[in-house]
Amino acid sequence: MASHQKNVGILAMEIYFPPTCIRQEVLEAHDGASKGKYTIGLGQDCMAFCTEVEDVISMSLTAVTSLLEKYGVDPKQIGRLEVGSETVIDKSKSIKTFLMQIFEETGNTDIEGVDSTNACYGGTAALFNCVNWVESSSWDGRYGLVVCTDSAVYAEGPARPTGGAAAIAMLIGPDAPIAFESKFRGSHMSHAYDFYKPNLASEYPVVDGKLSQTCYLMALDSCYTRFCQKYGKLEGKQFSIDDADYFVFHSPYNKLVQKSFARLWFDDFLRNASSVDEAAKQKLAPFSTLTGDESYQSRDLEKAAQQVSKPSYDAKVVPATLIPKQVGNMYTASIYAAFASLIHNKHNSLAGQRVLMFSYGSGLAATMFSFRLRGGQLPFSLSNIANVMNVGEKLKSRHEFPPEKFVETMKLMEHMYGGKDFVTSKDCSLLAPGTYYLTEVDSMYRRFYAKKAGANTTSIACENGSHANGH
Ligand code: ACO
Repeated sequence: MASHQKNVGILAMEIYFPPTCIRQEVLEAHDGASKGKYTIGLGQDCMAFCTEVEDVISMSLTAVTSLLEKYGVDPKQIGRLEVGSETVIDKSKSIKTFLMQIFEETGNTDIEGVDSTNACYGGTAALFNCVNWVESSSWDGRYGLVVCTDSAVYAEGPARPTGGAAAIAMLIGPDAPIAFESKFRGSHMSHAYDFYKPNLASEYPVVDGKLSQTCYLMALDSCYTRFCQKYGKLEGKQFSIDDADYFVFHSPYNKLVQKSFARLWFDDFLRNASSVDEAAKQKLAPFSTLTGDESYQSRDLEKAAQQVSKPSYDAKVVPATLIPKQVGNMYTASIYAAFASLIHNKHNSLAGQRVLMFSYGSGLAATMFSFRLRGGQLPFSLSNIANVMNVGEKLKSRHEFPPEKFVETMKLMEHMYGGKDFVTSKDCSLLAPGTYYLTEVDSMYRRFYAKKAGANTTSIACENGSHANGH
């Protein structure tokens, strides 16, 4: 049955990433990698990381309180809270329950939802849960809230430069400036060991890098085929790249995003879609007889497809690459950080445009879906979202660590992971006012957070390292 609610989607967004980062050029030299491997080869500029005072819980507390404050949303107006994360802090207690501290203070404990986990896909699962709730008969008229929060860290080696960290909060409801076109979703889910975290004593994943790239591209092809089939059936015409104004990808590193968009061009060529002109057809024709497997391995195809898609990539993809290139892979937050980049760069001209989204989580789960953008009304307008996220300022005010200090931080975090009975340095000098930070993990593994003074404080704010549960 059709939903009564119209244009359900994202009303408001806030993004938080740690102010501590390392430049890829510097890391590359420190690691002894050939010059250009991380910057050109992976396409990355910079990587954010948590220090000992930050984690996925502190980042999400910061993102949620900031969203509520800046858009003037009363915590009582939230009826569902869903978290996507693959950074395991507790095998039972959800991150969502930590966030409940914000809502309990106002007497609102009537909030459905828990955490969703499947590598980088958990945030999309959380988002779908909220959108489906608002579209359902159990919706009670309040907002949904989705939080994607992850700290992406890898052991020393080739995967380490593809880390990152961030939390994103998204308010969900009807009449949204970022409206879902729910009927066009295409998914691909299967069993693969491309990236997984079987060692519960370590924060680091086990990763088969090459396999993860192929799995990502295979899932992309499959989702795109299904998305196009649904579009064709419902709209009575073929979908092609021309039918979307922007493309936003889950972004482990920028090179994979370049390859992914090129792959969609090859897919359009194989489907004989109108988006592929004669010149491009001639360049791609030699590859039309490759089997699927051969096509994933063909460097010549990759090169030719990237070449023919380049102008289109610059126009339809580049505006959504800023934050992932500057912050790195943020796992569940990665695709929404890419989308936030698009809003940051283009908020004045997005009304009426369609954005195609590709979400991928290893293991694997993937969905392609689309948004139709609308101008919106204050405070829920595209330009206010750009204003609140203040991405330019957040990027500018970061602190670059030298590689030795970065490596030292990673070692300290390894040591702290899963630990108990310690207090942190409580050094929040690098954090912006209003940022939450970890102060203590007690002998029962209970975690305590404080909020750096200075910004508008919420009622659960605890200064100077006192416990966030009100002590
Ligand atoms: N100048 C320019 N380019 C260079 C240079 C150089 N000096 N040196 C290497 N390159 C290029 C390579 O040619 C390659 O480009 P290509 O992919 O177009 O061939 C690129 O840099 C990377 O080099 P590789 O040797 O392929 O890198 P390596 O195998 O050491 O590691 C990888 C890359 C596999 C991505 C690794 O970082 C990793 O495992 N990351 C984590 C897994 C991941 O992010 N997977 C993505 C999907 S799953 C997910 O989101 C977690």
